[in-house]
Amino acid sequence: MSLDRYAVVGNPIGHSLSPRIHALFAEQTGQHMVYEARLGRLDHFTKDVRAWFREGLRGLNVTVPFKEEAWRLVDQHSRRAERAGAVNTIWAEADGLLTGDNTDGAGFLRDLTQRLGFDPTGRAILILGAGGATRGLLEPLLGAAPARLVIANRTPEKARGLQQDFADLAGGARLEASGLEEIPAGPYDLLINATAAGLGSDGLALPRGLLHAQGIAYDLVYGPAARVFLEWAEAQGVGTVTDGLGMLVEQAAEAFAIWRGVRPDTAPVLAAIRATTGGV
Ligand code: ATR
Repeated sequence: MSLDRYAVVGNPIGHSLSPRIHALFAEQTGQHMVYEARLGRLDHFTKDVRAWFREGLRGLNVTVPFKEEAWRLVDQHSRRAERAGAVNTIWAEADGLLTGDNTDGAGFLRDLTQRLGFDPTGRAILILGAGGATRGLLEPLLGAAPARLVIANRTPEKARGLQQDFADLAGGARLEASGLEEIPAGPYDLLINATAAGLGSDGLALPRGLLHAQGIAYDLVYGPAARVFLEWAEAQGVGTVTDGLGMLVEQAAEAFAIWRGVRPDTAPVLAAIRATTGGV
């Protein structure tokens, strides 16, 4: 009997941790499957992905720079992928149609609430950046009913665009948008760095006093790319700083649970991955 096949596609893909994460999940839950990294060809992405599923691939994770293209290529979207405008998890339905989902936001929220013990309800949250990563977080964060959520971006118009797109989900939360130079005064309970850049070698040009002493500074990326932001946050005397490795493991667990119908225990997997990558 051949093993069920899964893969992650990106470009570049060499350093992806997903094959290790899914191998640990499979081992832990006794699932017979293989999960491999595939280099996506920039000009042939849609054609290649469709061919892989025709050849029997059971599920695919999608990473940089293909998440928006994956959104366009699938036949149908989950509700949260529809909102996120990006797809990171694909599977084939019994009739062959491809469904696209986005597990990034749910993975982030799970890491935040379960590992870090942070309940966003009634809290003040500041997100730096207004790209695809921020878009993916807004639905789950607003769903957790914060008191205030501010999106601050180098290009303020993009932050205002997101504010408009998600206004219907704000509920009782004050959803605001600004540029990086005029961020509304804090203190915030949670500061999320969702910008693509490490924000320059000189660190962030952010005002002091943005964060509560017991607040959390969370960078969505992990490894060296998160260093400048996390060092800045540490220098502010923030209670907790963390990179995005926990989110990476949680979004993988969410995809694994969809595909295999069993939810792995993420804590030992995160510890194993952390032991080899370093960071906080
Ligand atoms: P992602 O999908 O990771 O969110 P993206 O959609 O390309 O990537 O968005 C990148 C984000 O990082 C944007 O918010 C971008 O700001 P602009 O909208 O002004 O371009 C932000 N960003 C990238 N480089 C930055 C820098 N050097 N300083 C501040 N923000 C930066």
